[in-house]
Amino acid sequence: MTTTALEDASAPPTAPGTEWWRTAVIYQIYPRSFADANGDGVGDLPGVTAHLDDLKILGIDAIWLSPFMTSPQRDAGYDVADYCDVDPLFGTLDDFDRMLQAAHARGIRVIVDLVPNHSSDQHAWFQAALAAGPGSPERARYLFRDGRGENGELPPNNWESVFGGPAWTRVTEADGRPGQWYLHLFDSSQPDFDWTNPEVRAEFRRILRFWLDRGVDGFRVDVAHGLMKAPGLPDYTPPADSGSMGGDETDVPYWGRPEVHDVYREWHELLAAYDGDRALCAEAWMPTIAQTALWVRPDEMHQAFNFPYLMSDWNAQTLRHVIDESLRTFAAVGAPSTWVLSNHDVVRHASRLALTAENPQGHGIGPNSPGKPIAELGLRRARAATTLMLALPGSAYLYQGEELGLPEVIDIPDDARQDPTWFRTGGERYGRDGCRVPLPWTADGPSYGFNTTGASWLPQPAEWAHLARDVEARDEASTLSLYTRLLAERRARALGAGSLVWMPDAGADVVAFRNGNVTVIANLGDRPVPLPAGRVIVSSEPLESDTVPRDVTVWIEAD
Ligand code: BGC
Repeated sequence: MTTTALEDASAPPTAPGTEWWRTAVIYQIYPRSFADANGDGVGDLPGVTAHLDDLKILGIDAIWLSPFMTSPQRDAGYDVADYCDVDPLFGTLDDFDRMLQAAHARGIRVIVDLVPNHSSDQHAWFQAALAAGPGSPERARYLFRDGRGENGELPPNNWESVFGGPAWTRVTEADGRPGQWYLHLFDSSQPDFDWTNPEVRAEFRRILRFWLDRGVDGFRVDVAHGLMKAPGLPDYTPPADSGSMGGDETDVPYWGRPEVHDVYREWHELLAAYDGDRALCAEAWMPTIAQTALWVRPDEMHQAFNFPYLMSDWNAQTLRHVIDESLRTFAAVGAPSTWVLSNHDVVRHASRLALTAENPQGHGIGPNSPGKPIAELGLRRARAATTLMLALPGSAYLYQGEELGLPEVIDIPDDARQDPTWFRTGGERYGRDGCRVPLPWTADGPSYGFNTTGASWLPQPAEWAHLARDVEARDEASTLSLYTRLLAERRARALGAGSLVWMPDAGADVVAFRNGNVTVIANLGDRPVPLPAGRVIVSSEPLESDTVPRDVTVWIEAD
């Protein structure tokens, strides 16, 4: 790492009032697996605060924290029981305020996760709904329906939960008899709200204000395509090979309903009344980029995750196409394109890019999965893929641990698995635990420095010492050094605010473009390709000749 890179990395992020989210690199913190200050085996907010300097050195602009609000943790915090408090597992509201202040003092913005599609079944509203009975205003905040069949013994429709099994659960009424059913697109502990109810809308405006008033810079909105359901809740059977969040499907009665956009128009106004460019980012798994772009029309959200990019195969033609379409389609509505390769729901890209079998979103991989990745090939491709991604104009999301080159953990023992997907499919789908294993900070010490006690809510692999942050920080050739260099150069050269010009005749297996004074060439083919003229700024692997080897991306300063 050069001195220049370090200096650049410590420069403040974009100033307020500059729509920082258009170009920001946003680092996802999955709090339970980031750093554990109190040693109970689950990461926490003081753990985040303690490591903000590491993130500053890495050179990111903002952090997004997955949910840390009060929750029984049936879906790792995506089952919220109190939207305006911190779960004791992660600390207190004071810990949050301290973390936020410490991040802002370092010029790092903070986005929090908002989960509006469903609450926890332990939420006061759901408990009140159970107690109040059919036809009550309390039940009208959720989607309670009578069952089909002679005695209401069949679910109201045939919808399946994203995590497997039926999307309906029958309740026992106060008189002890089997009663109504409630809808849960996810786990049975996650009842869906009825977003046609004005009370629900008012409550979420209150929740947004609660966090905005505390000073957050924005929200990542969970299941932003799911809030509204088709009137009458008609039956629907997804295709057998579909991803669990509906990424390939059209006309689903619970994904991407047109009415959902009114909610975000309202939120847009609410955020706009605050200073400092607060932002909304949609988690909307829609089949096409054009459909995803509906969430970022000028009066709606500011960003949407680019899942078609994340799901692209390691194939030059596919990537050229998705990059082109992303830039064009998001620009057409005045939004930046985002780029993302990993998150807490998908197989880490250091493994995914070397999988040889289909792996639908959310299914995960485990000991018996077909087409398991070769680790070296996966890491090489992941480094090349990230080197390509961070040269693209727009905003990029990183997922904690990818900067260390962490692979998906495949060999988690069955009895250690925690994802509801694993339980609801009777072990047929491994789910997402493999990308959620606590981070290695130090090669020595208990739990690789995740805490000082050695406790870890998911077991860490025995062979992770060489991937620990302290080891990688000392190694010029490490994935951490590569990410640090890429982020410093991206910032220094303002690549996020740049524009992309394709290099003609680069070859079928090559992705090659100019962004400002940087030429980027990614070789996805089997054979080396000529290295373009100019000074090499950064390469995803060491270069031994004037060619770009297979599965390598190079940034070159054009003459
Ligand atoms: C989150 C998942 C979560 C689900 C239900 C998703 O999109 O990213 O981790 O299980 O929403 O809240």
